[in-house]
Amino acid sequence: MTIKTQGKIGNINLKNRMIMAPVKTAFGNIGGTITDKQIRFYDQVSSGGISMVILEPIAVQKNGREHPKQMCLDNECIDGITRVIDVIHKNGSLVCAHFNHAGRAANPKLTPNIVSSSESICPSTGAKSNSLNKSEIDDIIKSFGEKVKIASGVGFDAVEIQFGHGYLVSQFISERINKRTDDYGGSPENRMRFGLRIAEVVLENKGKMSVIARISGSEFVDGGLNPDNQFEFLNKLIDMGIDAIHVGWGNACDNPAWYYNHMSLPQDIQFDLLKKVRQNIKTPLIVVGRMSQIENVNRIFNENLADFVSMGRQMVIDPEYPNKIMNDRIEDIKFCGACLQGCLVNVKNGTGIGCVVNPFVAEPPIEKAEISKKAIVIGGGPAGLISSIVLRKRGHNVKLYEKEKTLGGQFYLASIPNPKKMMLKPLLGLIREAEISGVDINTGINVLKEKLKEENPDIVVVATGAMPNFIKFKGIENQWHISGNEALIRNDIKDKRVLVVGGGMIGLEVAEKLCEDDNDVTLVEILPELASDMEPITKKLILKHLEKMKFNYMVKTAIQEFREDGVIVKANNDKIKNLGRYDVVVFAVGTHPENELYEEIKNDFKEVVLVGDASRPSNAYTVTKMAYEMTKKL
Ligand SMILES: Cc1cc2nc3c(=O)[nH]c(=O)nc-3n(C[C@H](O)[C@H](O)[C@H](O)COP(=O)(O)O)c2cc1C
Ligand code: SF4
Repeated sequence: MTIKTQGKIGNINLKNRMIMAPVKTAFGNIGGTITDKQIRFYDQVSSGGISMVILEPIAVQKNGREHPKQMCLDNECIDGITRVIDVIHKNGSLVCAHFNHAGRAANPKLTPNIVSSSESICPSTGAKSNSLNKSEIDDIIKSFGEKVKIASGVGFDAVEIQFGHGYLVSQFISERINKRTDDYGGSPENRMRFGLRIAEVVLENKGKMSVIARISGSEFVDGGLNPDNQFEFLNKLIDMGIDAIHVGWGNACDNPAWYYNHMSLPQDIQFDLLKKVRQNIKTPLIVVGRMSQIENVNRIFNENLADFVSMGRQMVIDPEYPNKIMNDRIEDIKFCGACLQGCLVNVKNGTGIGCVVNPFVAEPPIEKAEISKKAIVIGGGPAGLISSIVLRKRGHNVKLYEKEKTLGGQFYLASIPNPKKMMLKPLLGLIREAEISGVDINTGINVLKEKLKEENPDIVVVATGAMPNFIKFKGIENQWHISGNEALIRNDIKDKRVLVVGGGMIGLEVAEKLCEDDNDVTLVEILPELASDMEPITKKLILKHLEKMKFNYMVKTAIQEFREDGVIVKANNDKIKNLGRYDVVVFAVGTHPENELYEEIKNDFKEVVLVGDASRPSNAYTVTKMAYEMTKKL
């Protein structure tokens, strides 16, 4: 068996071993009816050869929703759902509905009555849940049965039930959460009762659909669910007739980092646990969690650890992944960096799922321009690369110039700290995409006005990025100081006392790199909070990592001056303090657009466009989306 082999889950035949995992998209309307954008999303993800798409979660009851735009299966949603099913079938893939009740992980803004097995507080949302009474329990079980029946009627091929990840069913199974004393609490048998009753009604109503149970292989929480304390439940599900087990990781309330499988988490532990599950479970296994990385695919199939790999974010960054695998085009795959910056962030803020290096998610195809023009893109960071790809899609001849020897700009620098190494993969994928699309890439060339005049292009896209800011503190001229970017590249700062000025995302990343290089790092931030605009899971993990190293920080603290005897700061309470001398000071206080060339040439060519950080410094998702928007009509 390889990833390319056909497979079977219950009644259904899958054309290969790749399945799309459920991910909330936030593309629906408020209330959950389907939008055209959502249809485009499912069209895209099913057109690249995936064998089956598991749709985003459908809540069986309104108080079990996590997101205001969560897909629904009420009467008003059926037409839209049918369109989703049709588009996926038209593309030759199967489609699976995913049903859930979030229980205590539900969104408190959507329901005044958060419910669970017992009263408790979900650490992620801070919401307090009420204990379900028996008639409410019966009602939820009934809802699972009703929804599954509807799913069978509208043409789904399979149905997946959420039994894990800290959602309602697992809140019953978990001894840590379930404090009931009735026949739904106490003994393992009682704690399993709710889940088994759901399985019963699902199997009664499934029609011809296959049934998959989604679980968390390990919540990675003290006293939480792990393979050992779930085998009995899983084997009962299998005896009842469940067709496959889908193993993910983490827990939405207590351990979202593992649930969303962040890049900085270790991988080997997933394989050790998976081996254990494989040995004890005799039914087809699907596994998810960075499993689309090629080294993981090889390991799974070489060691026979699972029957199918499922992938969430990989289908967002590169929906063509399955076809590329099937055609041995591994070098052309844009691998996911597991950063969560374009996907999870935009689901949470309601904009809709995206990706830092794929601004085409759920967008209509780019139309060819009427006339093919000569275009020059200056700058090979993400904004320049995306602009080049878009212009090629428009049918123009595109030359890209980058003054450095390496492409990637700030994105490349950000992937230097060890825990962020995985981010190099999406960047390399983006560069490859530009190459494949026919962009003429030239590095190590600083393009000046004269050169542009010589080449005489119709379109010039300026994506020259941003320059780091410095602050002219009194006495700074006598102190060795560098930018955050320089600190990321240099490997000669070791065993030093370092002061990082600025506690935004770059400040934290720089501090992490310097701490890893055995420096003693102090960070000073004038605002009350560090990196307030950073993706929260990444921020939490980076701070946890920093805690273990020689790192300390001060917020609400302003630098006054650099003196011979040390750095003078003023804390929030107006206390003046001398922090002592530092070997090096690193500035991470933002950037300013590098747009000199643009100002020089903006009136010299027919179409001149400024994109990315050179226009307005921002994060990778924002600059690539901006580059796409500004070039798609050129
Ligand atoms: C934005 C986002 C939303 C997700 N929503 C859900 C969900 O509602 N239910 C679920 O079971 N898993 C959800 N997941 C988890 C994925 O199914 C998958 O386990 C996770 O992304 C790790 O797999 P990957 O590395 O292939 O992306 C979500 C993941 C992401 C990134
Ligand atoms: S934003 Fe990051 S995690 Fe999300 S799909 Fe893109 S590369 Fe993967």
